[in-house]
Amino acid sequence: MTDMIEPVSPDTLANGSAHVRLGSNAGQPLTRADGRLKVTGRATFAADNRPDGMLYAVYVSATIARGRVTHLDVDAAKAHPGVVEVMTPANRPPLARDPDAKPHPFALKVDALQNDRVRYAGQPIALVIAETLEAAAEGAVLLAPAYAAEPARMDEATGEIFATEIAGFGNPALFEKGDVEAGLAAAARRVEARYTTPAQYHNAMEPHAIVAAWEGDRLILDMPTQAPALSTAEFASFFGIPPQNVLVRSPFIGGGFGSKAFATGPYLLAMLAARMVGRPVKMVHRRDQQFGPVGHRGATRQTLRLGAAADGRLTALDHTALSTTSSFDDFLEPAANASHNMYASPAMRMAHQGLRNDVGTPGAMRAPGEATGSAALECAMDEAAEACGMDPLAFRLANYAETDPQTGRPFSSKALRECYTAAAERFGWSGRPLAPRQMRDDEGRLVGWGMGSALFPCPMFEAEARATIHADGTGTVEISASEMGQGALTALAQIAADGLGIDGDRLDFRSGDSSLPNGGIAGGSGHTATAGSAIFTAGADAVRRLAEIAVADEASPLFGASNSGVEARGGRLHRVDDPSRSETYAAILSRAGLSSVTGEGKGARDPAAAESRAMFSHGAVFAEVTVDPDLAQIRVTRLVGAFAAGRIVNPRLATSQLTGGMIWGIGFALHEETVYDPRTGRPMNADFAGYHVPVNADVPSVEALLVEETDRHVNALGIKGVGEIGITGTVGAIANALWHATGVRVRDFPVKMETLLG
Ligand code: MOS
Repeated sequence: MTDMIEPVSPDTLANGSAHVRLGSNAGQPLTRADGRLKVTGRATFAADNRPDGMLYAVYVSATIARGRVTHLDVDAAKAHPGVVEVMTPANRPPLARDPDAKPHPFALKVDALQNDRVRYAGQPIALVIAETLEAAAEGAVLLAPAYAAEPARMDEATGEIFATEIAGFGNPALFEKGDVEAGLAAAARRVEARYTTPAQYHNAMEPHAIVAAWEGDRLILDMPTQAPALSTAEFASFFGIPPQNVLVRSPFIGGGFGSKAFATGPYLLAMLAARMVGRPVKMVHRRDQQFGPVGHRGATRQTLRLGAAADGRLTALDHTALSTTSSFDDFLEPAANASHNMYASPAMRMAHQGLRNDVGTPGAMRAPGEATGSAALECAMDEAAEACGMDPLAFRLANYAETDPQTGRPFSSKALRECYTAAAERFGWSGRPLAPRQMRDDEGRLVGWGMGSALFPCPMFEAEARATIHADGTGTVEISASEMGQGALTALAQIAADGLGIDGDRLDFRSGDSSLPNGGIAGGSGHTATAGSAIFTAGADAVRRLAEIAVADEASPLFGASNSGVEARGGRLHRVDDPSRSETYAAILSRAGLSSVTGEGKGARDPAAAESRAMFSHGAVFAEVTVDPDLAQIRVTRLVGAFAAGRIVNPRLATSQLTGGMIWGIGFALHEETVYDPRTGRPMNADFAGYHVPVNADVPSVEALLVEETDRHVNALGIKGVGEIGITGTVGAIANALWHATGVRVRDFPVKMETLLG
């Protein structure tokens, strides 16, 4: 494991400005800054808020997937003691914009009681507001909805298949390079297989929750969001108020995984309810209400066709995905995109089609596209390796992409080879028999080893930050970032302290509400890179201002130095040419008669770098499974991953993110699946008794190794991202290990005992 990353001076910042260096705080394996607050229950989550006069709202979920609501017993609900108001499409206050409009292509339509249509099970169809949670829940039952139901379209046979231009968030749905059919025809070995992945629901530990209050035309929201400042504009647009009239407080988020990035229908209803009754309203989803109106990972059916020459090199790679979406919106899980950038092939074709079913609109869920797509790709690669009689790792190395297969561009950095080596050595891969069913453990269980490659893009979005140095030499950094359990408050504060050239314990890091500078979105694995860049440049800007004062002041030991001749560290400015000549921040400010200096910074990708390089984090995951030969009971006994993701700001938290992703990979491979009732379209396992995720007993040994990687192109700090890549590669590694144990190819996820039993 990489314990410490060498500090480097980001060139862009050293140029003409005082030097600040990432390295004395960043790179340390600190524990979570908010850990004590959380384990002692003092961290305040949205549902912990209880403003004076607050009412409770419970929304009613549709129990059919398609049709109309024909009756709601509003009188009965309103007559119930404690019920204050009932909101239905008949009396829902107007919104300033149509919830079915798409102001931009990535916007998702939301359900906010626009009419009596039901478009999926779980859709909100009414809301009861009451003095107590119990009264609201009882009132919701008394509404006793009646429906005119139409047959639910829940599968490939009944849903409409449609062509699409985009898949996911604006990616072209089709990519073609070379002649795939010719490549397949020329191949010495060919593999064609179809893989399926089910609908999965995010199910963060904290359900969606909101406390909404109006103060005149100002909207105050306590709610978990992955984009506190960005979301104000989205909410404001529904109420015709300026974004600055919306205050979103989101200090802690109990997991988001993509489901807490955008406006949802239930959230809008809570805001409407608070306005309707003129009192604050709290609404918390029941667990079953997480299944429907807040997005999910859409089901996919993926066909892979691979051709390989006798030496194992790919001659063609064809990946098509049929992704389920709702009947009324068009987000498509971009599964085939996972094959764009992983392996070298002269001919490639990646294509998407949509399938309309009566389900809620899917959306981004941890590693959208890559999680589902890499599951299929890595299995197909394993099948191709078998067809070529090659070791799966040797087969991948034979198809190593030295440049980006999609664009031909050089990678900004790519230490995948080092990842293969590190993980394979740690796992003990050499000595693996080629054929399946060759290994047994002490108790006679079949043992199998499999592997997969991992990849995730490292995008940046846009963020702003403010940094202040105070008269006492302490610093404050402000940014509306999102702490959703990933450790943002810790890692970003490490960057912030380095940006200001102070020790971490001298820093007050302020985050978590939308009045602070816009920290962008915690998504796409780009939060640390984006918000971190904004924070670091803000700190450097404050230091620059301080240095300007010092170098112009005859009384300062720094007098006469140029700004770039000064370096900030340990709360002092030092002359670069003579580090013994230095002065504290406090002394500089005191002599200047200033109480503080403030700097500002932005984080965004350099467009020239984005145009010239392909930017991805990479990794390799190795899995060991055991399978009971009689009962086909499956255990993942070991997972070893190695990942290269540029500069690691906090090795402890990065490892936690990566192992968390790998554990989700176990859940994807073996547990997670939404089972819909084909008659009603209702999820039949909308709770943690029926919707399985890995627990400790499912996760015996998971190791993530950090492979050192220096990237001079992704951003000045060299930070990529670790939030999502862990799940990619892992699913395929487990499925491939199951084949190696049993000789049975499993192509439908989650893998079940009955599949292995044949
Ligand atoms: Mo994510 S699925 O980028 O929150």
